[in-house]
Amino acid sequence: MAAPKLRDDLPEPPVTDLDPYAMAVLEDPHPFYRDLRETAPVVYFEKYGVYGVGRYAELREVVTDFQRFTASSGVGITDARDPQFRGRPPSALVEVDPPRHTDTRRVANRIMSPLVIRKWRSVFQEKAKTAVDRILEMGRFDGLRDLVEPVVFGGFPKAMGIRFDEDAIRAIGYMSFNQTGPENELYHKGLRAGEPFMDWFLAACQGDAVEPGSIAHSFFEAEAAGELGQGIASNITRSLVRGGMDTTISGISTAVRLLAQNADQWSLLKENPGRQRAVFDEAIRLEAPNHVVYRCTTGETELGGYALRGGVKIGTFPTAANRDPRKWDNPDSFDIMRNTANIHMSFGAEDHNCIGQNVARMEAESILAELLARTASIEPDGEPEYLIHNQLRTLGKLPLSVTPA
Ligand code: HEM
Repeated sequence: MAAPKLRDDLPEPPVTDLDPYAMAVLEDPHPFYRDLRETAPVVYFEKYGVYGVGRYAELREVVTDFQRFTASSGVGITDARDPQFRGRPPSALVEVDPPRHTDTRRVANRIMSPLVIRKWRSVFQEKAKTAVDRILEMGRFDGLRDLVEPVVFGGFPKAMGIRFDEDAIRAIGYMSFNQTGPENELYHKGLRAGEPFMDWFLAACQGDAVEPGSIAHSFFEAEAAGELGQGIASNITRSLVRGGMDTTISGISTAVRLLAQNADQWSLLKENPGRQRAVFDEAIRLEAPNHVVYRCTTGETELGGYALRGGVKIGTFPTAANRDPRKWDNPDSFDIMRNTANIHMSFGAEDHNCIGQNVARMEAESILAELLARTASIEPDGEPEYLIHNQLRTLGKLPLSVTPA
């Protein structure tokens, strides 16, 4: 029997059998994003018992209004407050609402201020130079294995101050970005891959393991000074490592892919080298590394002309919003002259906006600057392949060829 209506004057969102986690959707989510957006401002995914949002205006409303849409239920599909919840402990930054979030975030903003971040630029530049030396020697190369990963894996753990073990980091990333989905095959594969490395990961993110002078170390100093509660520094270190690597690899490899596939935009970038940051933001507008980020309704509310029930999770799909024709002209085209930073939703917005976004942009700039200065052209050398996750949209293989400048 249908549940009673909430408000007489507003309908409930249309029930849809669209499935955000169907394998065909995870392999190519763009038709799903279009259908989601065009069905209604908010829909109800019957299979999962959650709402979904794909239009820009409503998505922004959901991620920025913590009073109606809490983050404390976790950014995955399952409610992290449920006693049956089997996922990781909530993040002290991502999965907390103001005012508690505001206090922690203030400390984090200081520790990760642009001035501090800039200190690490030369590390990424050096890694990018070495990677570009290598791809120029190779001629034909893999954009992930030979270009983007060596820079992120080489520089990011150093800046964060955690020791690097490639197998462990890959497994933890694969687990994290599958664990936030429903209990499907990917979820279980993720757990199986990550579990053997959990002890390593927890130990690597403790105060006695992180490098003095690093970003993570500053969080432990703040904890020792009483600015952060007990255990918060290691919790945040885990969030930084989990949230900061695979997403950045995804975003930069998308930027490289799009430049290789759009020779006109590569030429335009050669004429306008100052647009390197814009390239990265435009790339993640078109292909947000996060397929979906959840909130939960705190009580009955209204969204886009529909009545929503309380205590129901709501999935926000940034790429769908980033391509919403209600917001963008020619939304599907890759245009490096477009100014999208702080407008696209791939880094979230307001309270929870991505604290690592300038680190990610700096990594992207290091690679793009080196490519731009030393290569005449970069071209596809086969079909790119995606590595499928419940939450992360990322390439696994990106065959390319390069011509020296
Ligand atoms: C292209 C790369 C990246 C993307 C697409 C990305 C995406 C996001 C998004 C969408 C959010 C907001 C989540 C929400 O609203 O609930 C977020 C928050 C966050 N990101 Fe990133 N991120 C990236 C890189 C990084 C890096 C490099 C770091 C670490 C240095 C990082 C650490 C974090 C943390 C700690 C938060 C939580 C902030 C808060 O809630 O106050 N991210 N990120």
